[in-house]
Amino acid sequence: MRTPVNVTVTGAAGQIGYALLFRIASGAMLGPDTPVRLKLLEIPQGVKAAEGTAMELDDCAFPLLAGIDIDDDAGRAFDGANVALLVGARPRGAGMERADLLEANGGIFGPQGKAINDGAADDVRVLVVGNPANTNALIAAAHAPDVPADRFTAMTRLDHNRALSQVAHKAGVPVAEVRRLTIWGNHSATQYPDLFHADVAGTPGGTLTADKAWLTDDFIPTVAKRGAAIIDARGASSAASAANAAIDHVHDWVHGTPAGDWTSAGIVSRGEYGVPEGLVCSYPVTASDGAWHVVEDLEIDDFSRERIDASVAELAAERDTVRSLGLV
Ligand code: NAI
Repeated sequence: MRTPVNVTVTGAAGQIGYALLFRIASGAMLGPDTPVRLKLLEIPQGVKAAEGTAMELDDCAFPLLAGIDIDDDAGRAFDGANVALLVGARPRGAGMERADLLEANGGIFGPQGKAINDGAADDVRVLVVGNPANTNALIAAAHAPDVPADRFTAMTRLDHNRALSQVAHKAGVPVAEVRRLTIWGNHSATQYPDLFHADVAGTPGGTLTADKAWLTDDFIPTVAKRGAAIIDARGASSAASAANAAIDHVHDWVHGTPAGDWTSAGIVSRGEYGVPEGLVCSYPVTASDGAWHVVEDLEIDDFSRERIDASVAELAAERDTVRSLGLV
């Protein structure tokens, strides 16, 4: 048997953790030939529940599951991590301002970034799911100067998958026939789902954009506000779909994206498409050889530019806030 891959998951006792761990252990994320060792990080109050989840993982007798460690110490949990899924985060409490939220999360993602820097494996790949995901990834990366910045990513794959489904429903085609959609910017209500370069069952996605009322009043807000709609309907935030998106993100990062298609991921900008360098921004990306590559040279019209710029401005404002708080 191959050497197990160490997968660290934070917030393991939470609802996304519960939907995520079983799929990782089943091989859905890294493939049917890759054994995994799960390293679960929780706060002390979450450890008992994580132990319960670990008992259930045991009871599945997954052939690929080589072991489970549970810890409330980041140093131990990230030691030797090849893949790190940063799910646990501080939710926005009543009366909490955005700066308070960023500060509270800085207290989590700064030390976790440092622990990754100090102890993770040389090939570590980090996906930040916990919100505000893009800026939490920025904070973690800032505390890991020895880890290449392109190993830190933020999850916008759930937004991407939501957009795929919305377009498939609208066009009346199977979701597998919708390709080359893009989520630009921040994982927040300002995100911009871009259809202009899409391929919808062989028809340019731009054909759908001719219906400006549908595009601006239906498609874009439906995708951007889907999280709130799920909370409204389910009485709890997206969990299985978020876990599924995390699986998709890491799967593609490791195994590559299909030829002729791309996906969306929050990655550290190198200035592509005029986004300030260093922001963790969602881009159209392909993956090959274990790395993300921004899809270059897409034509961006004024409609898209305005929306990308608005979301990027929000990312820059979040970065300025965490800078002023001394978190990066
Ligand atoms: P949850 O509240 O059910 O679970 C969070 C878990 O994290 C709890 O068990 C808590 O004890 C743990 N935790 C808190 N601080 C921690 C720390 N410092 N170290 C380790 N564990 C810690 O929340 P849920 O539903 O699982 O969501 C987790 C995060 O994912 C939230 O921030 C949520 O907003 C975000 N999210 C992001 C999405 C995306 O598309 N990027 C989609 C859906 C949710």
